[in-house]
Amino acid sequence: MMMSIHWLWASLALAALGYFLQDLFLMKKRRGLPPGPKGLPVIGSLHLLGKNPHQDLAKLAKKHGPIMYMRFGYVPAIIVSSPEAAEKFLKTYDQVFAGRPYHEASWYIAYEQRNLTFGQYGPYWRNMRKLCILQLLSSHKINSFWPMRRQEVGTLVKSLKQAASDGAAVDLSALISSLGANMSCLMIFGQKYMDKDFDNRGFGEVIQEALHVGSTPNIGDYFPLLGVLDLQGLTRRFKALAKVFHDFFDKIIDDHLECKEQKQTKDFVDIMMEIIQSGTSAFEFDRRHVKAVLFDMLVASMGTSVTAVEWAILELLRHPAAMRKLQKELEEKVGLERIVEESDLEGLEYLDMVVKESMRLHPVGPLMLPHESIQDCTVDDFHIQKKSRIIINIYAIGRDPNVWPDPEAFIPERFKDSDIDLRGQDFRLIPFGSGRRICPGLQLGLTVVRFVLAQLVHCFSWELADNIQPTDLDMSEAFGLVNSRAKHLKVVPIYRLHK
Ligand code: HEM
Repeated sequence: MMMSIHWLWASLALAALGYFLQDLFLMKKRRGLPPGPKGLPVIGSLHLLGKNPHQDLAKLAKKHGPIMYMRFGYVPAIIVSSPEAAEKFLKTYDQVFAGRPYHEASWYIAYEQRNLTFGQYGPYWRNMRKLCILQLLSSHKINSFWPMRRQEVGTLVKSLKQAASDGAAVDLSALISSLGANMSCLMIFGQKYMDKDFDNRGFGEVIQEALHVGSTPNIGDYFPLLGVLDLQGLTRRFKALAKVFHDFFDKIIDDHLECKEQKQTKDFVDIMMEIIQSGTSAFEFDRRHVKAVLFDMLVASMGTSVTAVEWAILELLRHPAAMRKLQKELEEKVGLERIVEESDLEGLEYLDMVVKESMRLHPVGPLMLPHESIQDCTVDDFHIQKKSRIIINIYAIGRDPNVWPDPEAFIPERFKDSDIDLRGQDFRLIPFGSGRRICPGLQLGLTVVRFVLAQLVHCFSWELADNIQPTDLDMSEAFGLVNSRAKHLKVVPIYRLHK
């Protein structure tokens, strides 16, 4: 015991010395770097980040500029905070900045980052991305899951209708979060797993742990020398989670292989196992890769779209005139005799504006996913060294006063007759990113957000529970893999349709 404590202190002292020497070396190399706050020895600027790093970085960028240099422990980082700057990193020099840093969760759970989300830029990632886009996330595939989405949203509406007739308050956050999980599981595995066992815990609990561990700041990311000591116990937890996920995915894959019934709609496991069995894949693609993609799809799809719906509902509750305007549009275009169908969505212009405005103010991934430069590059005369972490702050871009008049206000009408779109072409609004790494689930995500939001606003009026006034709604955020509202939304639904 004594020996190991001595060894720990000796390692920490050695690591601190190493980082201190490196600091001196980096200070010399600082010339040519973008401006930024002066960091402290060893930790750099880590102390400047609090619970909501996107907000802290946005404040710092106001002082230091839209291309800002900071060092987080050992890692040099470039923070990008304006549309013009984002265009340079995601379009002009997109290829240089399309890498991803080491990511411990993906390293263990996705077989050394063989997933799409954290796959290193290169032929493997390109092939994997093509496969996911063509086979799993194509328009044709998304449409094939339409009856499932309709059914699941219908079940939610039914339970809300019951609550409405009882005059009961509901936890809308919890309800739409389980809607998101159910829709994801049905699409990916062909079955709902929320209440099922997953080792000795429930599926929901394991996923929560994965999301929690995945979003805990990891000392090893910033001080690789300390990473091996696993001071936070994260490596141990990642390894344990990897085993749980691998066993679970193996069981699901085996069940799929044993199942002989003809399915009307093939889920993601069916599609990927067919590719393996047909031997038609143009690259190394086996069970490990299937499991890596399953993990990706689960994490990327479960919370994102429904969290975006929750933010939009919150803003509509705080802005009753916008809520009424959207309900009026739905009454005119759909009527009160039937529910909204996905085919209605294209004609709903105000809905489109509400979604854009809500995603501008509340992007669910405010710092996107980290990019990494794969070689040295010069941007605006600034030297960006290889292996710098590139953080695009879309939260700051969405609230940039040079681009958005009255940036903090929720005004969907600002998109009327505007050509600003959110599909990655216009750098003023990039909730899904842009360029080579743009979200491949954009079309699916957007469809789900519009459909669920339209349905909830069309079928119900909403009153806040516990006598809370709309203006008193606490909009504090809980930063994580998905940026959600810190508190759950409790509301009383009032049914609006005639049937
Ligand atoms: C409202 C919903 C969603 C939003 C706002 C969103 C946003 C994003 C953002 C900002 C990124 C990072 C882009 C970058 O690093 O440059 C991303 C990446 C990704 N998203 Fe989404 N996403 C959503 C839904 C989905 C869905 C439904 C799926 C799949 C079923 C998905 C799958 C992915 C994957 C696989 C990546 C990594 C792509 C790569 O690195 O090549 N997303 N998403």
